[in-house]
Amino acid sequence: MFDRLKKLPDDPILGLLRLYREDDSPDKVDLGAGVYQNEQGQTEVLGAVKQAEQRLWDSQQTKVYEGLRGNADFNTAMTRMMFGADHPALNDGRIVTVQTTGGSGGLHIAAGVLLRASPGVKVWASEPTWPNHQPLLSSAGINIETYPYYDASSNAIEFDAMLEGLQRAERGDVVLLHGCCHNPTGADLSREQWDRVIDLLEERGLVPFIDVAYQGFAEGIDEDAYGIRASAARLPELVVVSSCSKNFGLYRDRVGCTSIVAQSNEHAQTSVSHLANVTRRVYSMPPAHGAEVVQIILNDAELTRLWLSELGTMRDRVNNLRRQFAEMLATKTGTDRFAFIAQQRGMFSLLGLDKAQIQRLRDEFHIYIVGSSRANIAGVSEANLDYLTDSIAAVL
Ligand SMILES: Cc1ncc(COP(=O)(O)O)c(C=O)c1O
Repeated sequence: MFDRLKKLPDDPILGLLRLYREDDSPDKVDLGAGVYQNEQGQTEVLGAVKQAEQRLWDSQQTKVYEGLRGNADFNTAMTRMMFGADHPALNDGRIVTVQTTGGSGGLHIAAGVLLRASPGVKVWASEPTWPNHQPLLSSAGINIETYPYYDASSNAIEFDAMLEGLQRAERGDVVLLHGCCHNPTGADLSREQWDRVIDLLEERGLVPFIDVAYQGFAEGIDEDAYGIRASAARLPELVVVSSCSKNFGLYRDRVGCTSIVAQSNEHAQTSVSHLANVTRRVYSMPPAHGAEVVQIILNDAELTRLWLSELGTMRDRVNNLRRQFAEMLATKTGTDRFAFIAQQRGMFSLLGLDKAQIQRLRDEFHIYIVGSSRANIAGVSEANLDYLTDSIAAVL
């Protein structure tokens, strides 16, 4: 039967990474892959993670199954990190959290429960959004609609169009929002804009679904949770999916979680029974290692301090690179068309280059950027900044 299958093309981002690895030019630059890189282009294991792994190695007594909800200490620590330790919704027992296989697993599990709660439910996603939102949610059976979010001609959020687009959503529909570091645009809602979006969700009876894959990468752990905490304070219901891939650098360990804020403790307990049941039907239970590592870090004051300082180093590096990249592009191109890069947050920005320019950057200059012109700013370094900005100026 497998002779009936047709071979699929490479995933666009992973395919680009393969081309980059095969390129033997000493000048090559990878701005494609969505992982943090240090000044030397490496994605190292964090020191806090190494120490937590050592403790785990010394203390772990069993590898027996964990349970459908994953690691309970991890779930508690992550809930506090997202919502804040004293959030009223937490004190009221309205928040439940299950560990998932990365943010991707969390999105799929959340979709399964949304569909059980509201068969045929529509999820509204920003245009553009992370390209995997569509397959992860629609493979669970969700119908996706889009609302305007980013205006490529002004390189900014088109906020009025966003609010107008969301007027088309019907009571009970779900609105997918990025907690911070919007992927792929780097354009985040300000606090005032979050408040206005929450007003609209409240007025129209819409349910927010916040994907937070970069908490701590924009401004800080608490600052980046503004949208989550304000939504949970004002709205009766909310779904949050979080990933530890970037902020703990645990990409391959597949660590994340899904939280539901319900109207009461009783509804929250019912919801978590469904989260566990959907998990059972998809991958039975999440992997233990990475969640145990995160739990050890978040429950130890010294390791938490070390982790926060390492996270701060990653965040500061990206934010500094943004400024340097924007300034150098202004000098090299004699325009301010790239000034927006310094204002945006997280690893990604859309450079606003067309397909031919992106192709020339790859073919002539060995610079790898995905087709949407999304660039991973962490791939910029002091060593390649001059070459990179000269090359971009050359293809304009
Ligand atoms: C917006 C967004 N959501 C979710 C994820 C999920 O990440 P993971 O499944 O690696 O935890 C990512 C990763 O790139 C992302 O950018």
